[in-house]
Amino acid sequence: MKVIVIGTGVMGKNHARVLSALGYLSGVVDVDEKRAKEVASRFNVPWAKSPQELNFDAAVIATPTETHYELARALIEQGKHVLVEKPFTHSIAEGEELIELAKEQNIVLGVGHIERFNPIVSFFKKMNRDGNLITIGAKRVSSFPSRIRDVGVIMDIGVHDIDVLRYLVAEVAEVYARGGKIKHEKYEDHASILLGFKNGKNGYIETNWLTPKKIRRLWLTYDDCYAEGDYIGQWVEISSSKMRVDEFNVYDAEIDLNIRHINLRREEPLKRELVDFLGAIENHKAPLVTGADGLMAIKIAQAALRSLNTGRSVEVD
Ligand SMILES: NC(=O)c1ccc[n+]([C@@H]2O[C@H](COP(=O)([O-])OP(=O)(O)OC[C@H]3O[C@@H](n4cnc5c(N)ncnc54)[C@H](O)[C@@H]3O)[C@@H](O)[C@H]2O)c1
Repeated sequence: MKVIVIGTGVMGKNHARVLSALGYLSGVVDVDEKRAKEVASRFNVPWAKSPQELNFDAAVIATPTETHYELARALIEQGKHVLVEKPFTHSIAEGEELIELAKEQNIVLGVGHIERFNPIVSFFKKMNRDGNLITIGAKRVSSFPSRIRDVGVIMDIGVHDIDVLRYLVAEVAEVYARGGKIKHEKYEDHASILLGFKNGKNGYIETNWLTPKKIRRLWLTYDDCYAEGDYIGQWVEISSSKMRVDEFNVYDAEIDLNIRHINLRREEPLKRELVDFLGAIENHKAPLVTGADGLMAIKIAQAALRSLNTGRSVEVD
């Protein structure tokens, strides 16, 4: 199977590196000739300014969000399998059209919600004891990325947590968001998002482009333990105590806290994502993150943006 990467910027270079190591990379495309040539020569594959000039079976689209729809539509119409970087598309209508088209053409359409492939998310998915989860939260903050021009922080990085929380808990019924722009001239650069899930649980996401330190954390509060995971360090920590808070005065009691720190086996999430996409094509099955998942993430992100602009909570369709 021949796979090309369209867009050889920050993310496209990583896709090219991993696909080359897996033995699948057959070419790279970029409208910026210099970038395309540089990445092509590093991995010893042909380059082009348009995918039409290359021979391939599947493509990874790692270009700015605004371009995802046009590029993906043309490829799907030609019967190519496509992995589109997150956020899936700029508008909900574009995402819906691509999903329909992919069904008609019987091709694999995946979306690059890479954090589902982080070992900490796989760990929490396995340990998820739906019944006694009380709340879930995520923090994704870092400094200003000057290259992201076409979306705000919710669509750019908030969608990672929206997808993970939805994957771990349930479909989202309602969203309330506060935030705004301090540094970005056009879009929001900080947001706090409260999610109400259809199973009655709640979730919270804090995201911004204004923090000097890069933090990527996820935490889950159960009725008998508290679990926290670090996406970067790929570790989880589970804290539990035999003490029942209703039996004691919490301020006087000696809390016999049992903390287990678990360093997970380190794995590159992008490699796991691409192996899953290639496996879906080879075995004619759905990838872990489908077009429908990508669409749901942007629906929730857009509901958060509506909430942020109106000051009201918004129901998710
Ligand atoms: N999954 C992740 O963790 C992650 C991380 C970073 C970026 N991304 C996503 O990857 C995508 C690209 O982001 P980036 O940070 O790599 O951007 P970037 O600006 O570094 O790179 C984008 C590249 O696409 C090229 N390009 C633009 N329009 C094109 C077109 N029509 N055809 C071919 N090439 C075109 C540009 O010349 C540029 O080289 C975005 O959707 C972004 O959200 C995902």
